[in-house]
Amino acid sequence: MSFIQITDTHFVPKGQRLYDMCPAERLSTGIDMINKDYANSDFVIATGDLAHYGEKDAYLALKETLSQCEIPVHLVMGNHDSRKPFLEVFPDTPVIEGGFIQYTLDSSDMRVICLDSLNDVPGDHIGRLCQTRLRWLDNQLAAAPKDKKIVLANHHPAFLLGLPAMDTIPLADREALWEILDHRLPDLMIFGHVHRPISGGCKGVPFHIQRGFNHQVALNFTPANLGFVDECPDIAIIDTVEDSILVYTRSVGGETRSYPAGEENRQTA
Ligand SMILES: [Fe+2]
Repeated sequence: MSFIQITDTHFVPKGQRLYDMCPAERLSTGIDMINKDYANSDFVIATGDLAHYGEKDAYLALKETLSQCEIPVHLVMGNHDSRKPFLEVFPDTPVIEGGFIQYTLDSSDMRVICLDSLNDVPGDHIGRLCQTRLRWLDNQLAAAPKDKKIVLANHHPAFLLGLPAMDTIPLADREALWEILDHRLPDLMIFGHVHRPISGGCKGVPFHIQRGFNHQVALNFTPANLGFVDECPDIAIIDTVEDSILVYTRSVGGETRSYPAGEENRQTA
C-alpha cells in the first residue's frame, strides 16, 4: 500500500491570508484530489511548517481543513512550527523523551520514521537533531523489520542544497544524523522546507523534496535573499513496485484538461 506526502502548508488563523493566498483553500483542493483519486492510500504525512507563525489558531484552522481528509493525516514539525500550541490542538500526536514529536508509521512493506528537527531556540530556522532525537532514531533503525523498506521523513533536508538562500537555514546536525543512518541506511528520504521539487541522492540514499502547499521558493543559484514565486503545489504518492520505491508527484491545480492518447489527436493548422 502507498502513502502520500504533502508539505509546508504554512497555515494562518482562519480568515487570514499569507502572501495573498489562503493556505486553507489551497490545502482543501489537495485534499479533494486525495479523496477522489488516492483514498486507498494508507495515510498522509505533512512534512512540517504546518503553520506559518506557529500559533494555536493556525493549528485550529489546519485541524478543521484536515477533517475533510478521508484517510489519516500524520503531522511533522518544521522550523515555522511551535510544539506547545500544536500539541494543544493535536494532543494525540506521539511525543518522545524531551517533548520531541517523533514516531513511526507502517504501511504493508514500508516503515516511515518521522523526525522532529525543530530548533529549540524560538525563531531560529536552522534545523537541529539533538542526541535525544538521534538516539531514538538509532533505536528505531535497530528495531525496524528487515523485510520492510525504511523511509525517513524530516522537515530539513539531511544535506546542503546548493541554493545559497536556503543553505543559510540547513540541518545543523546532518553529520551526526549520517553517523546514525550508517547503522542502517534508509531506502528513501523525504523532506519539506525547500518549497521546491528536488530529487537526487546522498551517500547512496535517494531523496525527494517537494513543493510547499502555499508559496514556492524561487530557484536561484546565486547569493540572494530568499524569494518566492507562485506555482501550483504538489502531492506525492509513495508506493512500492517489486523491489523499488516510487515517488509519483502530481500538481494540484495545474492540470488544465485531460484527453486520451491517440493518432486521432493529430491536427493540421
Ligand atoms: Fe516552509
